[in-house]
Amino acid sequence: MDDTSGGGSSSGSPSAPQASPDGGASPGPTGDAGAAIPIGTQAELDAWLQSGAYKSWACEAAAHDRRPGSGHSRNRICVNPALGQDKGAGPYPVGAASVKELYDGSGAVNGYAVYVKVKPGAAGDTWFWYERIGSSVVARSEGASLCVGCHSGAPRDHVFTASPQ
Ligand code: HEC
Repeated sequence: MDDTSGGGSSSGSPSAPQASPDGGASPGPTGDAGAAIPIGTQAELDAWLQSGAYKSWACEAAAHDRRPGSGHSRNRICVNPALGQDKGAGPYPVGAASVKELYDGSGAVNGYAVYVKVKPGAAGDTWFWYERIGSSVVARSEGASLCVGCHSGAPRDHVFTASPQ
């Protein structure tokens, strides 16, 4: 009964494209990404992550140990079309998003790191940041300083991995 538009396998033009049910608090993100990312509450976001909807994005083939400079554990990164297909320069468009699966020592996913571009501009608070490991929430806010402090050193607008492969 939980109809998260990720269930259907058709990517044609279904008639229910989730037209910003939030009433315009954010300017209709990810129209082309197949599903809006529900960042409003932690429960909604966790449910969406759990659904695996992001796995239809461009994803790394397999989990890898963290890369130099990374504050994360072993992980696998996916990016949505708004991020991955924007090859320009400067800030990414609103709706750009990345999900990183975080792995524990036994190779199981035990958390997620997520960011979503929520407004235009180049500042850290133009991104919503979320990270949960097990049940402990590391960050969940626009401009979370822990995340921004490191990601502000990324090559373009806080994004390290623009093309997962
Ligand atoms: C100490 C530096 C550092 C901190 C702190 C940090 N990150 Fe990252 N993050 C990285 C690096 C480097 C990568 C890319 C390589 C990797 O993770 O293996 C990355 C990758 C990511 C990715 C995948 C997309 C990308 O840009 O590569 C997401 C999503 C992400 N981080 C979210 C977060 C969130 C949310 C927080 C705050 C809770 C956070 N990060 C804190 C360094 C950091």
